[in-house]
Amino acid sequence: MSLRIALFASGSGSNAENIIRSFLNDSKFEFPLIISNKKDAFVHERARKLDIPSFTFSREDFVKAEPILDILKEYQIDCIVLAGFLLKVPEVLIHAFPDKIINIHPALLPNYGGKGMYGHHVHEAVKASGDTESGITIHCVNSNYDEGNIIFQAKCPVLPTDTADLIAEKVHALEYDYFPKVIKNLWS
Ligand code: GRF
Repeated sequence: MSLRIALFASGSGSNAENIIRSFLNDSKFEFPLIISNKKDAFVHERARKLDIPSFTFSREDFVKAEPILDILKEYQIDCIVLAGFLLKVPEVLIHAFPDKIINIHPALLPNYGGKGMYGHHVHEAVKASGDTESGITIHCVNSNYDEGNIIFQAKCPVLPTDTADLIAEKVHALEYDYFPKVIKNLWS
């Protein structure tokens, strides 16, 4: 039987697309559903091209959690991957999918995590700190932002001449390379 994974994304969705494409020839994993909290997010366009249903739920829907639980049930979802998803995951959902929700963070947690540390803010903060490395963290999701058990980290060098955009590029390259592999290792 295959494992059915829902992808949650708030923006471009390049990670979501990369994950789906990485598993196209692997019948053990299915990605039957994409969920977003933004109706104009580019991830919907990607979903359309990939022929995968995508839905938008409001912040209120996420707070209530019931509408999200319903659709996850309808699509018989086993696990959830947050790939650039910016809303807090409701407690009810965390309890309904124990150890079955993972997130990717574009820095080396516990540094540069927590509220307000998302997207470009993270890379700007790394740049401003003068740190000589950044990277990615893939972790389990619990009730606190970015505080679940760390499953995997990978690093990239940050040069003094690197802009925040360049750091973002390096981090994205790590994400594309490792996120599908980590999903496969974790849930095979
Ligand atoms: C990624 O860098 C991810 O780590 C972060 O948000 C970004 C999403 O990019 N949480 P994309 O939407 O997958 O292109």
